[in-house]
Amino acid sequence: MSTSVGKPINRVDGYLKVTGGAKYSADFNLPQLAHAVIIQSSIASGRIHTIDTQAALLAPGVLAIITHLNAPKLNSVPDDLKPVQGKIGQQLLPLQDEIIYYNGQHIGVVIATTLGQATYAASLVRVEYELDNPIIDMMSLLSKAYPPKDPLGLGKDAVRGDIISGLADADVCIECCYTTPIEHHNPMELSATVANWNGDKVTLYDATQGINSTSTIVSLVLGIPKQNVRVLSYFVGGGFGCKGFTWSHTILAAIASRFVNRPVKLVVTRQQMFTSVGYRPKTLQNVTLGAIQEGILTVIRHHTINSTPLYEDFAEPCGSITKMLYECPNVEVTHRVVQVNLGTPTIMRAPGEASGTFALESAIDELAYALNLDPLELRLRNYAEKDPQKNLPWSSKSLYKCYQEGAERFGWSQRNPEVGSMRNFDLLVGWGMATAAYPVYNRPTAATVQILASGQARAISGTQDIGTGTYTVMTQIAADALGISVEQVHFELGDTQLPRASSSGGSSTAASVGSAVYLAAQQARDKLIAMAITDTASPLHGLDKTQVQVKDGYCYAEAQPQIGETYADILKRHHMDFVEVTSELEANTQKQYSMYAFGAHFAEVQVNPRTRTIRVTRFTSGFGAGRILNPKTARSQVIGGITFGISMALQENSVLDEHSGRFITASLADYHVPVHADTPAIETFFVEEQDTHINPIGVKGVGEIGIVGSAAAVANAIYHATGKRIRDLPITGDKLM
Ligand code: MOS
Repeated sequence: MSTSVGKPINRVDGYLKVTGGAKYSADFNLPQLAHAVIIQSSIASGRIHTIDTQAALLAPGVLAIITHLNAPKLNSVPDDLKPVQGKIGQQLLPLQDEIIYYNGQHIGVVIATTLGQATYAASLVRVEYELDNPIIDMMSLLSKAYPPKDPLGLGKDAVRGDIISGLADADVCIECCYTTPIEHHNPMELSATVANWNGDKVTLYDATQGINSTSTIVSLVLGIPKQNVRVLSYFVGGGFGCKGFTWSHTILAAIASRFVNRPVKLVVTRQQMFTSVGYRPKTLQNVTLGAIQEGILTVIRHHTINSTPLYEDFAEPCGSITKMLYECPNVEVTHRVVQVNLGTPTIMRAPGEASGTFALESAIDELAYALNLDPLELRLRNYAEKDPQKNLPWSSKSLYKCYQEGAERFGWSQRNPEVGSMRNFDLLVGWGMATAAYPVYNRPTAATVQILASGQARAISGTQDIGTGTYTVMTQIAADALGISVEQVHFELGDTQLPRASSSGGSSTAASVGSAVYLAAQQARDKLIAMAITDTASPLHGLDKTQVQVKDGYCYAEAQPQIGETYADILKRHHMDFVEVTSELEANTQKQYSMYAFGAHFAEVQVNPRTRTIRVTRFTSGFGAGRILNPKTARSQVIGGITFGISMALQENSVLDEHSGRFITASLADYHVPVHADTPAIETFFVEEQDTHINPIGVKGVGEIGIVGSAAAVANAIYHATGKRIRDLPITGDKLM
């Protein structure tokens, strides 16, 4: 398979996107559509004393107001639900009682004929509270940290060897505390749901990374069969994790629509996105590293604490990469949580890997200086030739090549190791580097491929395109496996009535859906070839299937290409409209290999010594991520991840008011996401890898690995430029004063 796969073709949905033809969830303006607006708690702890909806109900256009006083009773999601079946964003269900756990908690929903009417009426709802003292800052409560109950299993602790003897063996030891702030995903597209009931069935147009997760969760919460909840999501304008699980607004939209017996649209406002769809929690990470003088690690200890709400545990799995990145006999990784009056955090682009490698890869840099070793050299001396935690060989690992080629392209050998020694006129120049790694996830997926009598093909899977290029790469895979051109393939996704696929998270979609599409297409091709070679009317009759090739839909004898016929010929002769094959793939099953993508980042910063303005001026990153299906969309993914990492290093910070527990940066004016002017030209490359162990197409996934380690590379460059080691993100100019 290689006619289209591996080529940087344009997005097949690009035309629809740039012409406005791509319909996102909030674009479905159904007839009789009503609009819902969420009412949120303005306190962080306590209870609702009274909620007065009288004036609001009399406002023009208002159809209904739902609060805990008249909301239907909802079912909680069972504890034993497997994450691959679906996951609710937070266990706390909306409008079930008067108790307030955090500021911004959904306490009501107003439904009106127009959005303006609903918004105005929502402002008329008067709420009186009994106010308790909220706990907002986890730093005052660190002694109360406890091991989380972690249903995702990502924040698992790990130990190998013996920390005490590892510390005793070290010639040089560093112990540092790193902190990362709350961050919000801020995708361009707001979360939104359009709900429409028809009898006892509901259709949801939902901005989600997981249509099947949403269908499962909504059906469980409402107590109706899963097949009665159809979820559609054709285009998603970015998710980054905040659309990975099913949140309260989707449930509220479904309830609201049933309440008023009309289709209802609920769009979470930009401000509400800060309190409605999760966030990356604040972390406090203590890292201890020890090494002998030659730079061989003897001990790695990584203890993480993050905040969690009062009603459930969420652990940011910061130690997940620490466990496996370096060869080291003595390792201890722990995760603890502290309860505060905030909503539930969630996964955010490389949850744990991104936040954890900021600490780990900064600490490795600190150790390199303590040992007087080049930071790249220190990493090479501790290169893990197999997974040291699982004690398994890697399915493939090209990290060495990423380091080598990255260093070469960047010019790392020209680096003067002395801090503050490099200049560009009066600007301080710093060079830093860091490592990236991200696991390979194969998630359960089904896909169907049909070869049509027209000679075209249709491929379908109930997956999502969250902006990553799913439509495009699946089209490429199907086209190559069938032996037809991409123009002849139509790939459909985003409907729970299609063969079931998993959520698009964990950088798993290309690998999982791609494998299912590949196998289904290959079998569909084989099926047609079998029909030909067993048919006396076919010119290919009597050949063995291995003697038949397909190109542009023409099946021919390899030895005599003039002998052959098209897919269309075969189907028409059999009076068939199409043949189809469905392929189903399980989750990761093999246990003989440890499967990761790896990468290396090299960053240059320039710091103004007077104003302390920091600019990232160059960035070079290389990745070994298995087969690259489309270098253009893959590059977009990794430069997106790196941009996330640069802004994690320098900009992003969700600031809380410590008294009210309210986010005071709840807009794109106050919460700084990077724009082009903040971002340098990013040079990326992929090391060719042929990994036959991970899945049938050898794909590892590239959605998240770009952010892993990139914040540390920037922080390390800033240290090199200025001699200031900032362990608290974001690194703003004031911290360099
Ligand atoms: Mo990603 S945080 O797995 O959506």
